Amino acid sequence: MAATASTARARVYAILRHNEYSQGARRWRAFHLLALGSGLLAVTLSTIDNLPEYFQAVLTAVVVIVAGIFLAEYILRVWVVPEAPNYSSHTDNIGRLRWALSVDGLIGLLAVVPAFVITAGTVKADSEAAAIFSILWIMKLGVHAPAMATLARVISNERATLASVCIIFMIILVVSATATHLLEREIQPEQFGNIPSSLWWAVVTLTTTGYGDVVPHSIGGKMIASVVMVSGILVLALMTGILATGFAEEERRREYLSVWDQVAKVPMFSDLGTVTLSEIVSKLRVRHYPPRIVVMRRDEAGDSMFFIADGEVEVRLPRDPVRLGQGGFFGEMALLDRSPRSATVVTTQPTTLLVLYASDFYQIATHIPSLVAAVEKEARRRQAENESNALTMEGSQ
Ligand code: CMP
Repeated sequence: MAATASTARARVYAILRHNEYSQGARRWRAFHLLALGSGLLAVTLSTIDNLPEYFQAVLTAVVVIVAGIFLAEYILRVWVVPEAPNYSSHTDNIGRLRWALSVDGLIGLLAVVPAFVITAGTVKADSEAAAIFSILWIMKLGVHAPAMATLARVISNERATLASVCIIFMIILVVSATATHLLEREIQPEQFGNIPSSLWWAVVTLTTTGYGDVVPHSIGGKMIASVVMVSGILVLALMTGILATGFAEEERRREYLSVWDQVAKVPMFSDLGTVTLSEIVSKLRVRHYPPRIVVMRRDEAGDSMFFIADGEVEVRLPRDPVRLGQGGFFGEMALLDRSPRSATVVTTQPTTLLVLYASDFYQIATHIPSLVAAVEKEARRRQAENESNALTMEGSQ
């Protein structure tokens, strides 16, 4: 009995996991997103005054249903905490408590709050409360954007560089505010009479917002304003550059780790030494496909080949379809012969593929000739098989 409960718990945990690619998990995420979108729309619309009563009742019903879904989700998430590797070192209930106090747990709890307030009957009457709830629900969207976690890591990785830019920003801000205060305080005592007022102008100018509500009138003030405006662009460019580079690097690292996990499942790669393997890993990309998805179509141009890390695909050939499973590869023929795709390839079940683009394939070819030779040999065999099948078909017509 206990074993059945723990299997059920493991299954629910797998579905609720944010980075799970199974069909159940994908369906749950789509449903969650739909509930979130409907809830947010209903809450937003309910803040409009003078809505017809029946429409208001529909909106309240949507909010109640969505809040109910989030409540059920929260309870399930608390239940499955012991399945999470992060909490496996704690007893079940301590793990649950720790999760409840984590960012994920707190956002989940906050999303449930409307359920209680609605039963007290305040959401419909109080548009301010509705607006606050919509903000709480929007935080759940972060769960669907792995980029949020990446951004947090980028800020943490680049904190020293970002801090240096912030210091430059502060120096320009304070120096320019003080200088304009000295130059403008007599001409415009209300706007530049003290440094805090001048700071407002400096922030608006340095961030390139430029409201134009406060502008220096003296020649000196205008010269400082020009320098601040140009500096603003430079500081923003620096910030953007640091964040964009950090983001790209973090994404590359994340991709590298996920490829590394998958590459072990392909026997062709498992015999390679660590150095060669790490070179290949940096060139591969992981792609997850649900069942019945067309990966490539016959006759279209091909610029990549695929290794099957998990799952199965069907190669639709004129005679009989061929199924390729874990460890197999396809898409090599167009790449080697620079010809159009010779067949349509469709997934038959949830499938994880490793993609290798043509440019990287030729680079690898110079370093790992054995791998390329194996791919070439199989391509020639397939071509011969297809040609002989075509002849047989012609003969029988
Ligand atoms: P490509 O021509 O790039 O795109 C379709 C792919 O189907 C092809 O590369 C091969 O990888 C694969 N393919 C074609 N013929 C066969 C076959 N007879 N057996 C297995 N796979 C094949």
